[in-house]
Amino acid sequence: MQYQEQVHTLADFPALPDLSRFTGLSGALYAKTGNKINASVGNPLNNPHPLLADAVHKSFANSWRYGNPNGDFQTRNAAIKLFDHIGVTGLQISQVIVGNGSTNLYSAAIDYIDHLTRPSHSDAQRVFLVATPTYGLFTIHPSQHNFQVVGFPLFAEHDWKPHPSIIEDVITRIHEEGAKVVAFLNINPHNPTGAVVDQNSAKELAQICIKHDLFAIDDMVYKWLEYDNRESCPLAAIDGMRGRTITLSSLSKSFNCPGLRAGIACGPESAIMHISDKLRNSLQSVSSVTQAAIISASKIIDPSSSNDFLEECKEQYQFRAKLFRTMIDGEAAAGATPQERKEIKSILRGMLQPEMLSHVVDCGIPGVNIINRTLEAGYFYLLDFSDYQELYYRDLKINDSYDLVTALVHEAKTLALPSEFMLASHTYPMAMRVSLGLKVHDIVRLGRAIYNTLVNLTDEPT
Ligand SMILES: Cc1ncc(COP(=O)(O)O)c(C=O)c1O
Repeated sequence: MQYQEQVHTLADFPALPDLSRFTGLSGALYAKTGNKINASVGNPLNNPHPLLADAVHKSFANSWRYGNPNGDFQTRNAAIKLFDHIGVTGLQISQVIVGNGSTNLYSAAIDYIDHLTRPSHSDAQRVFLVATPTYGLFTIHPSQHNFQVVGFPLFAEHDWKPHPSIIEDVITRIHEEGAKVVAFLNINPHNPTGAVVDQNSAKELAQICIKHDLFAIDDMVYKWLEYDNRESCPLAAIDGMRGRTITLSSLSKSFNCPGLRAGIACGPESAIMHISDKLRNSLQSVSSVTQAAIISASKIIDPSSSNDFLEECKEQYQFRAKLFRTMIDGEAAAGATPQERKEIKSILRGMLQPEMLSHVVDCGIPGVNIINRTLEAGYFYLLDFSDYQELYYRDLKINDSYDLVTALVHEAKTLALPSEFMLASHTYPMAMRVSLGLKVHDIVRLGRAIYNTLVNLTDEPT
């Protein structure tokens, strides 16, 4: 394991992750293509859950008044039920709150951790620990509250699970440099790797949090999208963690309605009170329409009701994964059943030129490696393009995944997420994240765009 060389020292991490290169690129794509294939976002693929849509529709009658900024009583009871299903059980009404997406609650939670940790660490740089690659946007909020965001690397060899000795090593280095790790962001199931932290891993993480007195944010927005009976285990379910963990979830991913901005959080009463104050003072109360969706979700998730919709969504994501893998790895390595192979071939036949079709089906796209091949949850693939580093797209030298994404945008009007955005550039500088939350035809167009871009790379500038 070579990670020692790859983990940077504290000084190497910028206080504010610079996502501006990506933001500019994303803007360029919108301007160029009208956002035709945007594989950079985790956009769930179907309509919202029909029962939930129905509840939202009917709820408009209640929107004549402001809702309680914490969430109305019934909504918070629904949040308790949802958390109970996630595995954080026995919550009181004062320990839950609803917000405009988990992002809104996350941002307020960071403010709480800032207040909590500032007095006792006024003379040390406070560090917010994340596992990298990570969800880049969630590194901005702690940076804005003067935390230094430091990543410890996740590796394919560990099935992308956080490795306790790696975390301990990183914490030791940070403390040797005079800074203090005060908080830890756990994303479970993980974006972008799709890995699930089960009960055993959760216990290991809990031990570290307790030993080093870390406050934890447990982001579980991809809960309910685990495959093959895997179960992500909340940190708050482990002894000693309830008082130091804020757990987040939302309806954005598994219920397919990110536009509703329906988020829920639970945690110690003092944390929830702080978050409540933040939201109350800025009238960020959740709309009655969104609250109706949360109430409906708690009924849907009840073991007594059918969960066909969730199962159907998961099947759709897994089919897309096999379709995409057929294009990247070739048919033999894609793990599709004979029936799925037939279906995949017929989709590809309708969309690819015969030459490309036979090439792709036989051997996939050479030099592209899916590094999180076993999707435990969610709908992201990480692609490694190391073989293409230092080639040229016209006169642009491909030094990192940002350059490759630039080539992809210009050649094929397709956007994926560069490694930089995931703060993974120190471990996987040539990795790109693609979302499988696209229509079937767009998955094929994505594979075609990657193929067409790569065949246009040259050894010398043109
Ligand atoms: C890991 C993670 N957390 C949070 C969010 C934001 O979710 P929400 O819509 O609940 O704000 C996302 C969205 O992509 C995500 O990937």
